[in-house]
Amino acid sequence: VTRETILGPNAELGRLSTPALVLDLDALERNIARMADFSRESGVALRPHAKTHKSVRIARMQVEAGALGVCCATLGEAEVMVDGGVGGVLITSPVVSVAKVARLVELNARAERLMVVADHADNVAELARASAAAGRPLRLLVDIDPGIHRTGVRDTEAAAALARQIEASHSLELCGVQVYAGHLQHVEDFARRSALAQEQHRTLADLVERLMAEGRRPAIVTGAGTGTHAIDAAGPFTELQTGSYVFMDVEYNAVDLRGDGVRAFEPALFVAATVVSANADGFVTVDAGLKAFATDGPKPEPARGAPAGSQYAFMGDEHGALILPPGVRLELGSVVECLTPHCDPTVNLYDRYHVVRGETLEDVWPVDARGAA
Ligand SMILES: Cc1ncc(COP(=O)(O)O)c(C=O)c1O
Repeated sequence: VTRETILGPNAELGRLSTPALVLDLDALERNIARMADFSRESGVALRPHAKTHKSVRIARMQVEAGALGVCCATLGEAEVMVDGGVGGVLITSPVVSVAKVARLVELNARAERLMVVADHADNVAELARASAAAGRPLRLLVDIDPGIHRTGVRDTEAAAALARQIEASHSLELCGVQVYAGHLQHVEDFARRSALAQEQHRTLADLVERLMAEGRRPAIVTGAGTGTHAIDAAGPFTELQTGSYVFMDVEYNAVDLRGDGVRAFEPALFVAATVVSANADGFVTVDAGLKAFATDGPKPEPARGAPAGSQYAFMGDEHGALILPPGVRLELGSVVECLTPHCDPTVNLYDRYHVVRGETLEDVWPVDARGAA
Protein backbone atom coordinates (compact mmCIF):
# COMPACT_ATOMS: atom_id res chain seq x y z
CA VAL A 1 0.00 0.00 0.00
CA THR A 2 1.57 3.28 -1.04
CA ARG A 3 1.30 6.51 0.86
CA GLU A 4 -1.12 7.90 -1.76
CA THR A 5 -3.63 5.08 -1.42
CA ILE A 6 -3.84 5.35 2.35
CA LEU A 7 -4.03 9.13 2.52
CA GLY A 8 -6.94 11.49 2.11
CA PRO A 9 -10.43 11.83 3.51
CA ASN A 10 -11.67 8.55 2.08
CA ALA A 11 -8.79 6.44 3.26
CA GLU A 12 -9.67 3.98 5.98
CA LEU A 13 -7.69 2.68 8.86
CA GLY A 14 -8.27 -0.88 7.70
CA ARG A 15 -6.15 -0.33 4.56
CA LEU A 16 -2.91 0.12 6.45
CA SER A 17 0.00 -2.20 5.89
CA THR A 18 0.52 -3.68 9.32
CA PRO A 19 2.20 -3.70 11.75
CA ALA A 20 1.92 0.08 11.74
CA LEU A 21 2.19 2.86 14.25
CA VAL A 22 -1.13 4.68 14.57
CA LEU A 23 -1.31 8.11 16.17
CA ASP A 24 -4.67 9.44 17.34
CA LEU A 25 -4.41 13.15 16.54
CA ASP A 26 -7.32 14.24 18.76
CA ALA A 27 -5.79 12.49 21.77
CA LEU A 28 -2.31 13.83 20.97
CA GLU A 29 -3.64 17.41 20.76
CA ARG A 30 -5.50 17.02 24.05
CA ASN A 31 -2.41 15.63 25.81
CA ILE A 32 -0.22 18.47 24.53
CA ALA A 33 -2.81 21.07 25.63
CA ARG A 34 -3.26 19.47 29.06
CA MET A 35 0.47 19.51 29.89
CA ALA A 36 0.75 23.07 28.56
CA ASP A 37 -2.19 24.10 30.78
CA PHE A 38 -0.59 22.37 33.76
CA SER A 39 2.67 24.24 33.14
CA ARG A 40 0.88 27.60 32.92
CA GLU A 41 -1.25 26.96 35.99
CA SER A 42 1.65 25.74 38.11
CA GLY A 43 4.02 28.49 36.98
CA VAL A 44 6.76 26.01 35.96
CA ALA A 45 8.03 26.14 32.39
CA LEU A 46 7.92 23.17 30.01
CA ARG A 47 10.62 21.80 27.73
CA PRO A 48 9.16 18.41 26.76
CA HIS A 49 11.45 15.49 25.94
CA ALA A 50 11.52 14.76 22.20
CA LYS A 51 13.18 11.35 22.78
CA THR A 52 9.62 10.02 23.07
CA HIS A 53 8.40 11.05 19.62
CA LYS A 54 11.54 11.99 17.62
CA SER A 55 9.22 14.09 15.47
CA VAL A 56 9.77 17.68 14.34
CA ARG A 57 6.02 18.08 13.76
CA ILE A 58 5.14 17.07 17.30
CA ALA A 59 7.96 19.22 18.74
CA ARG A 60 6.54 22.21 16.88
CA MET A 61 3.06 21.48 18.25
CA GLN A 62 4.51 21.44 21.78
CA VAL A 63 6.32 24.74 21.22
CA GLU A 64 3.21 26.32 19.70
CA ALA A 65 1.33 25.28 22.86
CA GLY A 66 3.83 27.20 24.99
CA ALA A 67 6.92 25.02 25.51
CA LEU A 68 10.33 26.76 25.67
CA GLY A 69 11.79 24.25 23.23
CA VAL A 70 12.43 20.51 23.52
CA CYS A 71 14.87 18.18 25.25
CA CYS A 72 16.84 15.63 23.23
CA ALA A 73 18.62 12.50 24.44
CA THR A 74 21.21 12.34 21.66
CA LEU A 75 23.21 14.82 19.64
CA GLY A 76 21.65 13.34 16.49
CA GLU A 77 18.13 14.05 17.78
CA ALA A 78 19.20 17.61 18.56
CA GLU A 79 20.58 18.07 15.03
CA VAL A 80 17.28 16.90 13.55
CA MET A 81 15.24 19.22 15.79
CA VAL A 82 17.46 22.27 15.20
CA ASP A 83 17.55 21.71 11.44
CA GLY A 84 13.78 21.26 11.55
CA GLY A 85 13.47 24.78 12.93
CA VAL A 86 12.95 23.98 16.61
CA GLY A 87 14.66 26.42 18.99
CA GLY A 88 15.52 25.99 22.67
CA VAL A 89 16.94 22.46 22.42
CA LEU A 90 18.49 20.97 25.57
CA ILE A 91 20.61 17.83 25.18
CA THR A 92 20.04 15.92 28.42
CA SER A 93 22.96 13.46 28.18
CA PRO A 94 26.65 14.39 28.21
CA VAL A 95 28.19 14.71 24.72
CA VAL A 96 31.55 12.94 24.79
CA SER A 97 34.16 11.98 22.15
CA VAL A 98 36.15 14.19 19.77
CA ALA A 99 33.83 13.62 16.82
CA LYS A 100 30.66 14.42 18.76
CA VAL A 101 32.11 17.50 20.45
CA ALA A 102 33.03 18.80 16.98
CA ARG A 103 29.45 18.19 15.79
CA LEU A 104 28.07 19.83 18.94
CA VAL A 105 30.09 22.98 18.35
CA GLU A 106 28.95 23.08 14.72
CA LEU A 107 25.36 22.66 15.87
CA ASN A 108 25.79 25.45 18.41
CA ALA A 109 26.87 27.77 15.62
CA ARG A 110 23.55 27.31 13.78
CA ALA A 111 21.17 26.71 16.71
CA GLU A 112 19.04 29.11 18.63
CA ARG A 113 19.36 28.78 22.45
CA LEU A 114 21.06 25.35 22.42
CA MET A 115 22.10 23.87 25.80
CA VAL A 116 23.84 20.67 26.84
CA VAL A 117 24.52 18.98 30.16
CA ALA A 118 27.95 18.00 31.45
CA ASP A 119 28.99 15.93 34.46
CA HIS A 120 32.81 15.72 34.30
CA ALA A 121 35.70 18.16 34.49
CA ASP A 122 37.47 16.59 31.49
CA ASN A 123 34.37 16.97 29.32
CA VAL A 124 33.91 20.59 30.44
CA ALA A 125 37.56 21.32 29.56
CA GLU A 126 37.10 19.73 26.13
CA LEU A 127 33.87 21.69 25.49
CA ALA A 128 35.62 24.92 26.57
CA ARG A 129 38.50 24.32 24.13
CA ALA A 130 36.25 23.39 21.22
CA SER A 131 33.81 26.27 21.68
CA ALA A 132 36.66 28.78 22.16
CA ALA A 133 38.04 27.73 18.78
CA ALA A 134 34.57 28.06 17.22
CA GLY A 135 34.03 31.51 18.69
CA ARG A 136 30.52 31.07 20.06
CA PRO A 137 29.93 30.37 23.78
CA LEU A 138 28.34 27.03 24.60
CA ARG A 139 25.58 27.00 27.20
CA LEU A 140 25.89 24.29 29.85
CA LEU A 141 23.90 22.77 32.68
CA VAL A 142 25.51 20.72 35.44
CA ASP A 143 23.96 17.25 35.41
CA ILE A 144 23.37 15.83 38.90
CA ASP A 145 23.05 12.13 39.71
CA PRO A 146 19.76 11.49 41.54
CA GLY A 147 21.26 8.29 43.02
CA ILE A 148 20.97 5.89 40.07
CA HIS A 149 24.55 6.47 38.86
CA ARG A 150 23.58 6.71 35.20
CA THR A 151 24.89 10.21 34.53
CA GLY A 152 25.52 13.22 36.73
CA VAL A 153 27.95 14.42 39.39
CA ARG A 154 27.71 12.50 42.64
CA ASP A 155 27.11 15.28 45.18
CA THR A 156 26.67 18.96 45.93
CA GLU A 157 30.40 19.51 46.34
CA ALA A 158 31.14 18.10 42.87
CA ALA A 159 28.28 20.10 41.34
CA ALA A 160 29.59 23.34 42.84
CA ALA A 161 33.12 22.57 41.58
CA LEU A 162 31.88 21.90 38.03
CA ALA A 163 29.80 25.09 38.12
CA ARG A 164 32.94 27.05 39.12
CA GLN A 165 34.92 25.47 36.27
CA ILE A 166 32.20 26.39 33.73
CA GLU A 167 31.99 29.96 34.98
CA ALA A 168 35.74 30.38 34.81
CA SER A 169 35.72 29.67 31.06
CA HIS A 170 35.02 32.53 28.64
CA SER A 171 33.75 30.12 26.02
CA LEU A 172 31.15 28.51 28.28
CA GLU A 173 28.03 29.88 29.90
CA LEU A 174 26.55 28.33 33.04
CA CYS A 175 22.77 28.13 32.68
CA GLY A 176 21.75 25.94 35.61
CA VAL A 177 21.39 22.34 36.74
CA GLN A 178 19.58 19.15 35.71
CA VAL A 179 18.40 16.24 37.86
CA TYR A 180 16.32 13.50 36.25
CA ALA A 181 15.02 10.87 38.66
CA GLY A 182 14.26 8.12 36.15
CA HIS A 183 13.85 5.53 38.91
CA LEU A 184 10.86 7.34 40.42
CA GLN A 185 8.73 7.85 37.32
CA HIS A 186 6.86 4.55 37.43
CA VAL A 187 6.43 4.15 41.19
CA GLU A 188 2.71 3.42 40.95
CA ASP A 189 1.62 4.67 44.35
CA PHE A 190 1.36 8.46 44.39
CA ALA A 191 2.14 8.92 48.10
CA ARG A 192 5.28 6.80 47.85
CA ARG A 193 6.42 8.54 44.64
CA SER A 194 5.79 11.92 46.29
CA ALA A 195 7.81 11.04 49.38
CA LEU A 196 10.76 9.82 47.28
CA ALA A 197 10.65 12.84 44.96
CA GLN A 198 10.44 15.25 47.89
CA GLU A 199 13.59 13.68 49.34
CA GLN A 200 15.29 14.58 46.04
CA HIS A 201 13.87 18.10 46.26
CA ARG A 202 15.60 18.65 49.61
CA THR A 203 19.00 17.66 48.19
CA LEU A 204 18.36 19.82 45.14
CA ALA A 205 17.27 22.80 47.26
CA ASP A 206 20.51 22.47 49.29
CA LEU A 207 22.51 22.56 46.07
CA VAL A 208 20.65 25.60 44.76
CA GLU A 209 21.29 27.35 48.08
CA ARG A 210 24.96 26.42 47.96
CA LEU A 211 25.33 27.82 44.43
CA MET A 212 23.50 30.98 45.42
CA ALA A 213 25.79 31.44 48.42
CA GLU A 214 28.67 31.36 45.92
CA GLY A 215 26.91 33.97 43.79
CA ARG A 216 25.78 31.52 41.13
CA ARG A 217 22.02 31.35 41.09
CA PRO A 218 21.07 28.54 38.70
CA ALA A 219 18.60 30.21 36.36
CA ILE A 220 17.42 26.80 35.16
CA VAL A 221 16.62 23.85 37.41
CA THR A 222 15.32 21.17 35.08
CA GLY A 223 14.17 17.56 35.39
CA ALA A 224 10.94 15.59 35.91
CA GLY A 225 9.20 13.01 33.80
CA THR A 226 5.53 12.29 33.30
CA GLY A 227 5.51 10.27 36.54
CA THR A 228 6.72 13.05 38.84
CA HIS A 229 5.68 16.20 36.97
CA ALA A 230 2.91 17.17 39.37
CA ILE A 231 5.16 16.60 42.40
CA ASP A 232 8.22 18.27 40.89
CA ALA A 233 6.23 21.36 39.87
CA ALA A 234 5.85 22.07 43.59
CA GLY A 235 9.59 21.59 44.19
CA PRO A 236 12.67 23.62 43.24
CA PHE A 237 12.30 23.04 39.48
CA THR A 238 11.97 25.94 37.06
CA GLU A 239 11.11 23.67 34.13
CA LEU A 240 9.82 20.16 33.37
CA GLN A 241 11.17 17.66 30.80
CA THR A 242 8.15 15.37 30.52
CA GLY A 243 8.12 13.12 27.47
CA SER A 244 5.72 10.17 27.53
CA TYR A 245 2.59 12.21 28.32
CA VAL A 246 2.12 12.92 24.59
CA PHE A 247 1.42 9.25 23.84
CA MET A 248 1.03 7.40 27.15
CA ASP A 249 1.50 3.62 27.27
CA VAL A 250 0.55 0.54 29.28
CA GLU A 251 3.25 1.29 31.87
CA TYR A 252 2.19 4.87 32.51
CA ASN A 253 -1.52 4.04 32.38
CA ALA A 254 -0.94 2.09 35.60
CA VAL A 255 0.53 5.13 37.39
CA ASP A 256 -1.71 7.53 39.36
CA LEU A 257 -0.02 10.66 37.99
CA ARG A 258 -1.57 13.37 40.14
CA GLY A 259 -2.76 11.46 43.20
CA ASP A 260 -6.44 11.91 42.37
CA GLY A 261 -7.03 8.67 40.48
CA VAL A 262 -7.98 10.67 37.39
CA ARG A 263 -6.18 9.89 34.14
CA ALA A 264 -4.51 13.19 33.31
CA PHE A 265 -3.46 12.03 29.82
CA GLU A 266 -4.95 9.54 27.40
CA PRO A 267 -3.50 6.85 25.16
CA ALA A 268 -2.70 8.38 21.74
CA LEU A 269 -0.32 5.83 20.23
CA PHE A 270 -1.18 2.33 19.07
CA VAL A 271 0.25 -0.45 16.95
CA ALA A 272 -2.21 -1.75 14.35
CA ALA A 273 -1.96 -5.46 13.56
CA THR A 274 -3.85 -7.80 11.24
CA VAL A 275 -5.24 -11.25 12.04
CA VAL A 276 -3.17 -13.49 9.76
CA SER A 277 -4.22 -16.90 11.07
CA ALA A 278 -7.48 -17.96 12.68
CA ASN A 279 -7.30 -21.76 12.86
CA ALA A 280 -6.71 -22.24 16.57
CA ASP A 281 -9.30 -22.52 19.32
CA GLY A 282 -9.48 -19.57 21.67
CA PHE A 283 -7.02 -17.29 19.93
CA VAL A 284 -6.00 -15.77 16.61
CA THR A 285 -2.54 -14.89 15.38
CA VAL A 286 -1.71 -11.27 14.51
CA ASP A 287 1.26 -9.93 12.52
CA ALA A 288 2.81 -7.91 15.35
CA GLY A 289 5.39 -9.62 17.51
CA LEU A 290 8.74 -8.90 19.12
CA LYS A 291 9.77 -6.62 16.24
CA ALA A 292 6.63 -4.53 16.57
CA PHE A 293 6.70 -3.61 20.28
CA ALA A 294 9.35 -2.71 22.83
CA THR A 295 9.67 -5.73 25.10
CA ASP A 296 11.14 -4.20 28.26
CA GLY A 297 7.75 -3.44 29.78
CA PRO A 298 4.39 -5.14 30.29
CA LYS A 299 2.50 -6.80 27.44
CA PRO A 300 0.76 -4.79 24.72
CA GLU A 301 -2.86 -4.04 25.62
CA PRO A 302 -5.53 -4.82 22.99
CA ALA A 303 -7.69 -1.79 22.23
CA ARG A 304 -9.71 -0.77 19.16
CA GLY A 305 -10.93 -3.67 17.07
CA ALA A 306 -10.17 -6.25 19.76
CA PRO A 307 -13.09 -7.95 21.52
CA ALA A 308 -13.51 -6.81 25.14
CA GLY A 309 -11.57 -9.08 27.46
CA SER A 310 -9.00 -10.21 24.88
CA GLN A 311 -5.33 -10.36 25.79
CA TYR A 312 -2.10 -10.19 23.83
CA ALA A 313 0.76 -12.70 24.11
CA PHE A 314 4.07 -12.62 22.22
CA MET A 315 4.49 -15.56 19.81
CA GLY A 316 7.82 -14.70 18.20
CA ASP A 317 9.60 -12.13 16.07
CA GLU A 318 6.71 -11.46 13.71
CA HIS A 319 3.67 -12.79 15.53
CA GLY A 320 1.47 -12.36 18.55
CA ALA A 321 -1.58 -14.16 19.87
CA LEU A 322 -4.80 -12.40 20.59
CA ILE A 323 -6.37 -14.61 23.23
CA LEU A 324 -10.14 -14.33 22.93
CA PRO A 325 -12.83 -14.63 25.60
CA PRO A 326 -14.77 -17.93 25.49
CA GLY A 327 -17.07 -18.20 22.49
CA VAL A 328 -15.70 -15.11 20.76
CA ARG A 329 -14.26 -15.29 17.25
CA LEU A 330 -12.30 -12.84 15.15
CA GLU A 331 -12.24 -13.03 11.34
CA LEU A 332 -9.09 -13.50 9.31
CA GLY A 333 -7.98 -10.07 8.05
CA SER A 334 -9.45 -8.12 11.00
CA VAL A 335 -7.36 -5.18 12.15
CA VAL A 336 -6.79 -4.69 15.87
CA GLU A 337 -4.87 -1.95 17.64
CA CYS A 338 -2.80 -2.41 20.76
CA LEU A 339 -1.66 0.19 23.25
CA THR A 340 2.15 0.11 23.33
CA PRO A 341 3.84 -1.31 26.45
CA HIS A 342 6.58 1.39 26.58
CA CYS A 343 6.13 4.19 24.06
CA ASP A 344 9.66 5.56 23.44
CA PRO A 345 11.42 2.36 22.38
CA THR A 346 8.32 1.24 20.43
CA VAL A 347 8.35 4.43 18.32
CA ASN A 348 12.02 3.79 17.62
CA LEU A 349 11.03 0.59 15.74
CA TYR A 350 9.09 2.50 13.06
CA ASP A 351 9.80 4.92 10.22
CA ARG A 352 6.44 6.67 10.31
CA TYR A 353 3.33 7.56 12.21
CA HIS A 354 -0.05 7.00 10.59
CA VAL A 355 -1.97 9.98 11.85
CA VAL A 356 -5.70 9.42 12.28
CA ARG A 357 -8.77 11.36 13.31
CA GLY A 358 -11.54 8.94 14.01
CA GLU A 359 -11.77 6.61 11.02
CA THR A 360 -9.81 8.89 8.71
CA LEU A 361 -6.16 8.52 8.04
CA GLU A 362 -5.20 12.17 7.79
CA ASP A 363 -1.47 12.09 7.21
CA VAL A 364 1.77 10.16 7.48
CA TRP A 365 4.51 11.78 9.55
CA PRO A 366 8.10 10.58 9.58
CA VAL A 367 9.79 9.53 12.83
CA ASP A 368 12.38 12.14 11.87
CA ALA A 369 15.13 11.38 14.36
CA ARG A 370 14.86 7.60 14.23
CA GLY A 371 18.38 6.20 14.47
CA ALA A 372 19.95 9.65 14.89
CA ALA A 373 22.79 9.08 17.36
C1 LIG B 1 16.65 12.94 31.06
C2 LIG B 1 15.22 12.63 30.81
N1 LIG B 1 14.31 13.60 30.99
C3 LIG B 1 12.99 13.39 30.78
C4 LIG B 1 12.52 12.15 30.36
C5 LIG B 1 11.04 12.00 30.08
O1 LIG B 1 10.43 11.17 30.95
P1 LIG B 1 8.97 10.55 30.71
O2 LIG B 1 8.97 9.87 29.40
O3 LIG B 1 8.84 9.64 31.85
O4 LIG B 1 8.01 11.68 30.75
C6 LIG B 1 13.43 11.10 30.19
C7 LIG B 1 12.94 9.77 29.80
O5 LIG B 1 13.56 8.77 29.95
C8 LIG B 1 14.82 11.35 30.40
O6 LIG B 1 15.73 10.37 30.22
